[in-house]
Amino acid sequence: MRYAVLSSSHHPQSRSRRLARLAHACLSARGANATFIDLAARTLPLCDGSGCYGDPEVQRLRQDLDNIDGFIIATPIYNYGANAVLKNAIELTGRGIWLERVVGFACAAGGSGSYMSIMPIVNSLMLDFRTVVVPRFVYAREEDFVDQDPAAPSGAPNSAASGDSEAARAAEVARTRRAVVDAIADRVDSLAADVIRFATALRNPSSEAGTESMRRARKASTEAD
Ligand SMILES: Cc1cc2nc3c(=O)[nH]c(=O)nc-3n(C[C@H](O)[C@H](O)[C@H](O)COP(=O)(O)O)c2cc1C
Repeated sequence: MRYAVLSSSHHPQSRSRRLARLAHACLSARGANATFIDLAARTLPLCDGSGCYGDPEVQRLRQDLDNIDGFIIATPIYNYGANAVLKNAIELTGRGIWLERVVGFACAAGGSGSYMSIMPIVNSLMLDFRTVVVPRFVYAREEDFVDQDPAAPSGAPNSAASGDSEAARAAEVARTRRAVVDAIADRVDSLAADVIRFATALRNPSSEAGTESMRRARKASTEAD
């Protein structure tokens, strides 16, 4: 099973990138084989529905996202929705990448008012590409981040994140957790657990994860959150 964290903000001190780094650390600490893809480090063309698909950067992105079982997408909320960078990346990569894959969202927003604004992109993934979207997403407001980012200054997680040892992975979780308040860090970790569980269940419905997912889905449908 393969996982990817996709960070879509181009802001140099992006808050959603902090969520992405923490999500990557949480996936790795849970034993998942996870790669970190920062769209700010890519020079992707705008999707024109034509020649863009032959662009080498687009082909590289498609290769990186190919055969990923579960994604965590970290996005800023811009103008009541995911940012244009993410929408462009989805347009460039298309159904073949997203069909029947699991996706969990981690959003960084200014305030509480845009809580439901991730839905248009969720709807498009679910209804157009039959992506399986984890129903509980992370929504972090400005006050959910600590003032200074104590984690890595930019881009991909530092080398500790890709360290093999359990201690290195735990240290990376601790380091990246410090970038957000505890309640949000806990939700990012729960999202990582959900993405692994859903992806495992989708690949093997009769597995323990598959049975457990069905049990939880039934419970959630009969109980208030
Ligand atoms: C162009 C633009 C549009 C924005 N629109 C919204 C919005 O609709 N709702 C909201 O809650 N915050 C909005 N914000 C605030 C961002 O979501 C917030 O700054 C967030 O931290 C951005 O994520 P990033 O730091 O990862 O880039 C907007 C910010 C910008 C620059």
